Amino acid sequence: MYSEKVMDHFTNPRNVGEIEDASGVGTVGNAKCGDIMRIYLDVDEDTKVIKDCKFKTFGCGAAVATSSMATEMVMGKTIYEALQVTNKAVMEALDGLPPVKVHCSLLAEEAIHAALWDYAQKHNIEIEGLKPPK
Ligand code: FES
Ligand code: FES
Repeated sequence: MYSEKVMDHFTNPRNVGEIEDASGVGTVGNAKCGDIMRIYLDVDEDTKVIKDCKFKTFGCGAAVATSSMATEMVMGKTIYEALQVTNKAVMEALDGLPPVKVHCSLLAEEAIHAALWDYAQKHNIEIEGLKPPK
């Protein structure tokens, strides 16, 4: 049912935890299942590159695996490039998810967007294409 990559990121998730004094934090809930995801970003002030990214979740295995992959994918990107890390891109990187688990991958994308929004608000900058969290 799950790809090897999903199982790998689920059993050995990368970047679990929190960042003290994070420059951006985003917390979202999944309306479908009630699960929660929080993403922390550490952004370089000058280059706007995401130096560190951590996550915490009360979520299922697919939520853990997608967040783990998503944190790896945004690291090293600028806050502008990070928008390319969509749930679709994350699912592709994981070699797919079962259809019933697709909504779980939205948690990671939404939490990253919420953290980027938080950062942009605090620094008074605009990230083109970024919508405010619901
Ligand atoms: Fe909550 Fe999947 S329904 S963990
Ligand atoms: Fe709730 Fe996966 S995040 S079922």
